[in-house]
Formats: sequence, C-alpha cells, structure tokens
Amino acid sequence: METTVRKIANIIEPQPVVEGAGVRLKRSIGTRTLDHVDPFLLLDDFTSKNPSDYQAGFPLHPHRGIETVTYLLSGAVRHKDTLGNSGEIGAGEVQWMTAGRGIMHEEMPQARPEGIIGFQLWVNLPAKLKMTAPRYQNISANEIPEIRRDGGATIRIIAGSVDGVTGPVGGIAAEPTYLDVALAPGGSFIRSISRGHAAFAYLFEGTARFGGDESAVVTGPRLIVLGDGDTVEVRADNSPARFLLVSGKPLHEPIARYGPFVMNTREEIEQTLRELQQGTFVR
Ligand code: CO
Repeated sequence: METTVRKIANIIEPQPVVEGAGVRLKRSIGTRTLDHVDPFLLLDDFTSKNPSDYQAGFPLHPHRGIETVTYLLSGAVRHKDTLGNSGEIGAGEVQWMTAGRGIMHEEMPQARPEGIIGFQLWVNLPAKLKMTAPRYQNISANEIPEIRRDGGATIRIIAGSVDGVTGPVGGIAAEPTYLDVALAPGGSFIRSISRGHAAFAYLFEGTARFGGDESAVVTGPRLIVLGDGDTVEVRADNSPARFLLVSGKPLHEPIARYGPFVMNTREEIEQTLRELQQGTFVR
C-alpha cells in the first residue's frame, strides 16, 4: 500500500485559561474549540517568565481515570501527594503519572529567575484501567535519549522510539509517542506513526510546515492536529523551530468529564464525588 503523509486536520490557537490557584496558562486541548483528541484530553502550556503567572500553583486536588504528563524544559515544579510521594520535577524532566482510581496531589511551580517552560498533557485511560492502582514514572533528564539526525533535527524521546532508540516511559495503555523535536532553520523531520493513531504537534518555538512541503507555514504557539496517514513530515522555515509530537491509540469509549475526573458515565462521576465527600476517595 502507498505511504501517505498526514495532512493538517486542524490548527488551534492556544487559549488563555486561569487554572489552579490562579495560574495563567495557554490551553490547546480541553476547550470548547477542541474538547479532546482521543485519547488526549487536555494540553496546557504554562510557560512564563513572570512568577506571578505561575507561582500560585495547583494546591491539593484529586484526579481519577486519567494520566497526567508533566514535561519541563526550564524551572521546577514541586509535587506531593496523599500516598506519600513527593519530589521536584526539574528542567528536562518528565513525570508520567497514572492517577487510576485516585490520587490527591499538589503541583507547585517554583519562582525562578529563568521563569518556567512546561507542558501538561492528560491521557485518557481505557474503561478497564480507570480504577487501576496509581503509578508514577519520574524520568530524569539524563534518562531521556537525545538523537541528532542529518537533516537538522534533534529529538528527545520520552515515549515511543525513533531510529531504533526507545524512550524511558513504558507500559502505557495508549501506546503513546511523545517526542520533543528541535529543528535547525530549514531542517526537516519525518517519522512513521501507526495508521489509526491520533497525532498532534504542539509548535512552541519558531515557524514550520506540517504535512508536506505544499502545506502552509504555521507560526507558534499553535496546536496542529494531524489527519490520519502513515508518516509525519515537518520542515522548519528560515528560523529554528521546536515542537512536541504526540501520538496514541484512540479509545473510542464514552467520555464523562468533570474537572480533574474523567470516567465513562455520569454515574461514575457522581460516585467519585460521593467518595470525595465521604473521605473514601483515596484508598
Ligand atoms: Co494534577
């Protein structure tokens, strides 16, 4: 069968949102414009030079039924949860948290002179894993392989593989790819993505073409949702470009969403709220 390049299905301008205790961030997935890209439920960019945008943080809050993935390029986020886990996510690090049946945690970006560059992605869990035991994959910067390709691409591999090099995050139901790709001016990047998997790029630096050389130039920050096909092709314009490339297997299951809980039915959400009220949420 012939190989087809994935074309741009949608270009989304990130929307300003105030979240947590007053964090001003930019949201591209999980809005009225774009509710989800199955299996991805939310994408936030909390990059800012100004501590007043982020230091209020995300005090104690629950999650159930999803995975939250925090990737930091600059600055630090302290975290602590009711299961006794605590630590700091630093520059170049990833926390892939499978909330499963439930955790309560706080996520507090630290005021730093360099500010913060960071992203949070929510990945849905299939119905059969929504009540699984919570799990963390804390990945330090030196555990994330970085490869340099001829053609001007430098790729950090968080999940999935490129050129036979596999990222450290594993055992995730969505079979995700999560790459951080930096392109030199005019540099290009091509990679195959399984047909039928959802895929998007989040361009946070520079300008680039997605979906072949005849496609329009996109200027970041923008979310580029890619249509189906076999490969992703990206080419930077005259300046360097940097983007996250994420793909995963759609669940095709009903979504019942209420704030930090994402289940399959209204009843499961109501049950979750009852458990919170009765103090039986964290088991
Ligand atoms: Co959280």
